[in-house]
Amino acid sequence: MKFFADTAEIEDIRKLADTGLLDGVTTNPSLIKKSGRDFIEVVKEIVKVVPGPVSAEVVALDHDGMMKEAEVLRKIADNITIKVPLTPDGLKTCKALSSDGTMVNVTLCFSANQALLAAKAGATFISPFVGRLDDISQSGIDLIADIRMIYDNYDFGTEILVASVRNPVHILESAKIGADVMTAPPSVIWQLFKHPLTDNGIAAFLKDWEATGQQI
Ligand code: G3P
Repeated sequence: MKFFADTAEIEDIRKLADTGLLDGVTTNPSLIKKSGRDFIEVVKEIVKVVPGPVSAEVVALDHDGMMKEAEVLRKIADNITIKVPLTPDGLKTCKALSSDGTMVNVTLCFSANQALLAAKAGATFISPFVGRLDDISQSGIDLIADIRMIYDNYDFGTEILVASVRNPVHILESAKIGADVMTAPPSVIWQLFKHPLTDNGIAAFLKDWEATGQQI
């Protein structure tokens, strides 16, 4: 499973990239607002830190406008992935860009039929939002399982990028289903490393080691 960081905070991205476990980054207009940074400027910094796919989202709602914005964004670097919303214009843009060899992330997916459409439009990634479905008492993880089954039925190459991840259980369940990618806030990714028995075990080993008086 590939790990993407869902953030536009460059220092958080640097720290995660240092682990050697970060495969990409996703941004969206809300994350840009939260960062307080200039969109183009911060994306230019992110693509230098992470060689994998970096999603940058268009804000136009019509196909022509999306194509114009995508043109600006894809010039930033080869690893830019254009993020488009799951609308008829968004999927038309997806088809045009992906036919041209540009990576496309179709975002704001909330149903398996929407994911089917995105795959037919040649999306590189489909982003189902699990947390926001959970928020309205629907199972986000059930949606991931449905999309996995449909994509496998037809051998679609579109990668399932689990988004709106709120906790480690979302990641665990997505991995069990075989989702290709997950994107999560850095705080959730750091939680994956933690287990109290790991911390206790280290403390006990160090105490015993000190008692031996030895050095490596
Ligand atoms: O990847 C999409 C994500 O940024 C949305 O997350 O927590 O706002 O639903 P959330």
